[in-house]
Amino acid sequence: MQEFKDKVALITGGASGVGRSLAFALGRRGAKIVVGDVDKTAMEQVSIDLAAEHIEAVVAHCDVTSADSLRAVADKAADVLGGLDLVFANAGIGAGEQGAMWEYSEKDWQWCFNVNIWGVINSIRVFMPRLLASGKEAHFVVTGSGNGAYSILPDAPIYTTSKAAVHAITENLHYQVQAGNLPVKVSALFPGPHVVDTGLFNSGRVRPEALKKEGVEGNESGINSVDDMKRMCEEFGIELKTTHPDEVAEMALKGLEKDAFWLLETTPETDAKIRARADMILKRETPVPAMVG
Ligand SMILES: NC(=O)c1ccc[n+]([C@@H]2O[C@H](COP(=O)([O-])OP(=O)(O)OC[C@H]3O[C@@H](n4cnc5c(N)ncnc54)[C@H](O)[C@@H]3O)[C@@H](O)[C@H]2O)c1
Repeated sequence: MQEFKDKVALITGGASGVGRSLAFALGRRGAKIVVGDVDKTAMEQVSIDLAAEHIEAVVAHCDVTSADSLRAVADKAADVLGGLDLVFANAGIGAGEQGAMWEYSEKDWQWCFNVNIWGVINSIRVFMPRLLASGKEAHFVVTGSGNGAYSILPDAPIYTTSKAAVHAITENLHYQVQAGNLPVKVSALFPGPHVVDTGLFNSGRVRPEALKKEGVEGNESGINSVDDMKRMCEEFGIELKTTHPDEVAEMALKGLEKDAFWLLETTPETDAKIRARADMILKRETPVPAMVG
């Protein structure tokens, strides 16, 4: 998609972090924006900030774990902005699990799978038929993570598992639209190349009441922000590099302009890890845990 002007772009989880940056990057290129999110405070703020830049936008409550909620936001996009050209299935959370997998709360697995996996499945089921019905050129972008798609980091197994599934879903969706020669392009967005400075480490702020764990405030890992993560890395003598979400949005739009499937920026270190992983599998070597960053 070479031109974003006057296109309608819907972004789930668009009130914070990568989604918010996508909203502004697209809006500044003349797109009309639909932000769907569950965080009321962040929604109010993004609404004010988009208006201040005269970006035409609808900011609506939308819970990706509910297909009905996504249908309502799609209807709103059609009523107010006249349709849908780009969808960013971007909402995601980290459950903040800590310790041995066999001791994790079922509520951690459920919350993470509900948002990260079902959020993408629901988005595909609700938005793909609408994009296809328009018959126009359209784009469906799924935010995944290298952690799960091409590497297995050992410190957040629930998240990693969810993002492995997300990537499998995204790649299959791409194959299906290709096989059908359909006018919708599919892309896999990988925020990075470093840890992106967003609210992901503080996802607990939008944890649903029913899936809260009794007596647990914040993440059991003790890491509740990118700053916490930086401090922890410093204790191990590692400098944690970070990426601003605006850089991710720019990288994504540059890739979309070329209809790229992989919206992925890596470092030489990441490339080396991907190669080493492929080699490890080909040589049947026993896996050793990779480091974050
Ligand atoms: N931050 C990183 O380093 C990084 C790296 C790789 C992938 N990602 C992915 O990027 C995406 C965006 O996350 P982010 O880093 O910007 O974090 P973020 O917390 O800043 O943004 C996520 C947004 O999703 C919203 N959200 C959470 N649950 C929701 C639900 N049920 N329905 C609708 N919205 C919901 C949150 O309110 C928030 O606005 C996620 O899919 C995440 O997994 C992030």
